[in-house]
Amino acid sequence: MKTVIVYASIHHQNTEKLVKGVAKEIEVNLIDITKNKSVDLSGYDRIGFASGVFYQSMHKGILNCIEKTNFREGQKVFLIATCGVIIRDYTKPAKKILAKKNIEVLGSYQCRGFDTFGPFAKIGGIAKKHPNDKDIRKAQKFVKSL
Ligand SMILES: Cc1cc2nc3c(=O)[nH]c(=O)nc-3n(C[C@H](O)[C@H](O)[C@H](O)COP(=O)(O)O)c2cc1C
Repeated sequence: MKTVIVYASIHHQNTEKLVKGVAKEIEVNLIDITKNKSVDLSGYDRIGFASGVFYQSMHKGILNCIEKTNFREGQKVFLIATCGVIIRDYTKPAKKILAKKNIEVLGSYQCRGFDTFGPFAKIGGIAKKHPNDKDIRKAQKFVKSL
């Protein structure tokens, strides 16, 4: 079972910290989509997409990658997001694109990530130190459970 996580982590590298933590425990390849504009995902059985949340959705580069990917039969997807405040399922827009493509989503995982966007900068940011060890352990458990 070959697994890859395609990620975008541009605000504070929160998502990168999380997926690197997952890669320490589970055999997964990591691809930073902001550095690799076109990626070949055909050799993978499971594809994870991961990013911070920007205006209630995953990073545009991730949504574009999902749009552009010609998933082959049997490939399954999971989603990981880090966000300032968890108030909803921010992976929903990504899930919508995947549903249109008839791609099965195995599950999604969200945790908080250090956030200094807009007014939060004035108070030194929120969700400081996240993702922390507990968030990383939960993410490892999530990917293992798929
Ligand atoms: C422009 C911008 C918009 C954001 N929008 C949201 C949002 O809608 N909801 C939320 O919970 N966090 C939001 N955040 C916070 C990020 O999702 C959070 O810090 C995330 O962990 C960043 O991940 P990264 O460091 O991997 O890029 C936003 C941050 C930025 C810079």
